[in-house]
Amino acid sequence: MPHETAETLRNLIRTRVRGHKFIAVSNREPYMHVWRNGELAWIRPASGLVVALDPVMRASRGLWVAHGGGGSADVAASDERGFVNVPPDEPSYRLKRVWLSEEQEENYYYGFANSALWPLCHVAYRTPIFREEHWRAYQEVNEKFAEAIAEEIGDDQAFVFIQDYHFALLPRMLRQRCPQAVIAHFWHIPWPNPEVFRICPWKQDILRGMLGNDILGFHIRYHGDNFIATVDRELEARIDRERAAIIYRRHMTKIRAFPISIDFEAVARQASSPAIDELIACLRKRYNLGEDIILGVGADRIDYTKGLPERIEAVNRFLERYPEYCGRFVFFQAGVPSRTHIPEYLRLNEEVDEAVRRVNQKYGTADWCPIIFRREHLPLSELLAWYRMARFAIVSSLHDGMNLVAKEFVAARADNGGVLLLSRFTGVARQFRTEAVLINPYATDDLASAIHRAIVMEPEEVRRRMTRMREQVREHNAYKWAADIVRKLSKFV
Ligand code: G6P
Repeated sequence: MPHETAETLRNLIRTRVRGHKFIAVSNREPYMHVWRNGELAWIRPASGLVVALDPVMRASRGLWVAHGGGGSADVAASDERGFVNVPPDEPSYRLKRVWLSEEQEENYYYGFANSALWPLCHVAYRTPIFREEHWRAYQEVNEKFAEAIAEEIGDDQAFVFIQDYHFALLPRMLRQRCPQAVIAHFWHIPWPNPEVFRICPWKQDILRGMLGNDILGFHIRYHGDNFIATVDRELEARIDRERAAIIYRRHMTKIRAFPISIDFEAVARQASSPAIDELIACLRKRYNLGEDIILGVGADRIDYTKGLPERIEAVNRFLERYPEYCGRFVFFQAGVPSRTHIPEYLRLNEEVDEAVRRVNQKYGTADWCPIIFRREHLPLSELLAWYRMARFAIVSSLHDGMNLVAKEFVAARADNGGVLLLSRFTGVARQFRTEAVLINPYATDDLASAIHRAIVMEPEEVRRRMTRMREQVREHNAYKWAADIVRKLSKFV
């Protein structure tokens, strides 16, 4: 079967969504405008959601509504109603920025979304914080988005595609304002089991809000089943297990799995370009990385769900158990600072720094440093260069909805080289069950052994595994993710 492409998705949207406005909604904006040396510039935030949805929006030429203000020049780059054409270098869709007050951002984004729902859904052993003022701001901001979107829809027909845990209340609010709209919601993070979810003081409001959707998507079936079990426990709703649907107050919400992905061809093309060859040569020189050095890589937001201290501890254990690799092995870790207003994240940053320092002090010599840690937002081009140089990559999330770094690593390896060490607790582990080396990030010794296994793996086996993972991602790309959702949505017309 031919793969979905931007073109096939565009045709699908044109035929199936004809006469409807196509509106995507997320908290994080796809492009942030910033001032750089007095000039207007832009950056792409580190967000799996943005990686997947941007190619879809380019193809749909629709409208993306998001929280503005992430970039210092967002206001200057937008018109008085918050509109700006994006991508900035080749505009193909519109972004509508919704402005929030500092207090709203503090309580809704840092507060309820990221200090309550994020730890609640991820189960990474951080206690969720539930505070009244956070919850109030969360309701207020969801209302604000409902207003902003309803204003764009008016009496027209529309498909609204809501993203993530920032907007659990929005589907119902929107349905009340625009009953003619078809609403889908994709939850990019895991959904926990009912025992975990029941501690949330506003659990019923959240579930009622989400049951305003026509379709509710998760990366994997397991999360959808957890959601159905949670509703069954908490609300008087009818569960139709055969159709994986919930009927609540006469409205039906279908629960489906749609594994999210990346624009495989675009990433693969960029990774194989001469610009990346040059970058590789520069990095080798800059970090004194001869061809004989065995390189491992990791790239993540600095988030406690990503298992960074666990990964560094495993590198430590690896060097302890296999000292013959001292001087011949380097682990490169890129860490994007994230949500640093939240004390838990600040503590994590210190913990990671300390762990890296300890390993480097313990093993490092005058001309060799085992871990290179870059705490900054690296452009995709540089990440691709590191992926191509690596003997292996580690994704050691303690829990992750999908994880697109794993897929980017795979897309970058046109040479079919490179081993992926992948946490069992990621959504993507369901797709790469036999091709990746599955790890448990909590089991340090096993992870240290897995590093060794990756290094000594026969080239033929490496090639076989990588070839299969590449086929998977090529077929299950971001366009397929979107096309599957659009096909489901179009049944509601
Ligand atoms: C996860 C979430 C996204 C979020 C991203 C980055 O992937 O599912 O919704 O955008 O993290 O986090 P941030 O808080 O910076 O948007």
